[in-house]
Amino acid sequence: MENIEKLQEIIDNSNNIVFFGGAGVSTESGIPDFRSVDGLYNLKYKYPPEQIISHTFFQYKPEEFYKFYKDKMMCLDAKPNKAHTFLAKLEEKGKLSAVVTQNIDGLHQAGGSHTVYELHGSIHRNYCTKCGGIIKPDVVLYEEGLDDETVTNAINAISNCDTLIIAGTSLVVYPAASFIRYFKGNHLVLINLSETSADKMADLVIHGKVGEVLSQIKI
Ligand code: OAD
Repeated sequence: MENIEKLQEIIDNSNNIVFFGGAGVSTESGIPDFRSVDGLYNLKYKYPPEQIISHTFFQYKPEEFYKFYKDKMMCLDAKPNKAHTFLAKLEEKGKLSAVVTQNIDGLHQAGGSHTVYELHGSIHRNYCTKCGGIIKPDVVLYEEGLDDETVTNAINAISNCDTLIIAGTSLVVYPAASFIRYFKGNHLVLINLSETSADKMADLVIHGKVGEVLSQIKI
């Protein structure tokens, strides 16, 4: 409760908030994250999931890749949760400048957010790898680089914000996790179920569910 009050005060006094999130932002929409006990990387599958979502695997075993991708990653029926709608409202009120996400589910946009930098791409876009070649989802696989413009936009947003809220991410995947180092504003807030390496740098750490936490804030 005391933490919620502190978060309320930080948000009330901020005018340029950036939200940096990961898979934990979508678990309340029923999409599993990667590294929790019930996460994708702990699934017993024919191949280790971390191997399946690599560029090499996509190239050599596209059918197996697509089987996993369609079954486990293309969550087309998922709906935005309280975290997504709260952030959209915060943007509408002119208090949030950007959402930087590692998620590929498009739920921030579905929830009404406009400025969303999708560091790892989106399941809602696909492209032909060569005219008439295999279609590839516009998602960043292991061994692939991030889109330059998206990275620049994300770093600019983080560098210029007064408050950075990091939520629902284990902060172990680089380069995405390294972008939080560009923050030089006033308040760093961390909302995550489990501990992260950034807890010690944060002004406020809340170990809880991001949707449940944010929906208690009045805007
Ligand atoms: P992880 O699965 O590594 O971490 C999710 C974090 O969210 C964990 O620390 C959970 O404790 C926490 N969590 C789960 N549900 C939550 C909730 N409702 N509220 C608050 N916290 C919650 O997911 P990411 O950090 O997003 O990359 O993983 C980063 C990248 O690893 C992904 O983008 C993906 C993966 O490899 C690619 O596919 C390129």
